[in-house]
Amino acid sequence: MSEQRLQKIISAAGLASRRAAEGMLSAGRVTVNGVPVALGQSADAEKDDIRLDGVPVKPIRSHTYIMLNKPRGYVTTLSDEKGRRTVAELVKGAGVRLYPVGRLDLNTEGLLIMTDDGELANCLMHPSHEVDKVYRAEVSGAEPKRAAAQLGALRELEGRAIAPARVSVTESGGARFTLEITIHEGRNRQVRKMCAAAGLKVHRLVRVAEGPLTLGALPSGKWRALTAAELASLRGAV
Ligand code: URA
Repeated sequence: MSEQRLQKIISAAGLASRRAAEGMLSAGRVTVNGVPVALGQSADAEKDDIRLDGVPVKPIRSHTYIMLNKPRGYVTTLSDEKGRRTVAELVKGAGVRLYPVGRLDLNTEGLLIMTDDGELANCLMHPSHEVDKVYRAEVSGAEPKRAAAQLGALRELEGRAIAPARVSVTESGGARFTLEITIHEGRNRQVRKMCAAAGLKVHRLVRVAEGPLTLGALPSGKWRALTAAELASLRGAV
């Protein structure tokens, strides 16, 4: 980044309006590389150590937010010590290092949010904010309606209380049927463990929605940037 007027840098960092920043400069509250500066001077926000009242002024970086349709067989990590394929490989084209928000286990597919905004990621993963996650599970091993009722009635998993899930049958006919399961907790392999507790075999598990975001027709292995409206509603959800 090239040199810019300091009042512009301070206001772009979200610390004050440009006029208020001018007042701060006139009052001698701003230093560049340890030297007090006056109104009218410029600096490089990337290279120079700019401080207001001794506190570093950092430019607001714009973050990247995407959704990936994670395929089966990919690990939700940035690098895997066992050399398995990772979600990081699938989002290389985004051009920045993106961290998964939560995780989908190796054989679970579907919607995975990835971002370099640690603050939003932490908010989304924090138990007090956990947003609804909707899974489509192709299962067998019980009568569909009874399986849905049994899953919806589960209050404990491995000796620990769980919040009730919302469960409905979306497709049935043969031995295999599809359940839509909505949970807001994020325990390790929670849906698979719930299905096992109800005597169900899981053939396929896909996360189709998280909070206000839906996977839609995004092909497996592909990603897309979140729209401004999606990002705003995601922020609203936490
Ligand atoms: N529940 C699971 O069992 N697996 C996931 O990846 C996510 C939720």
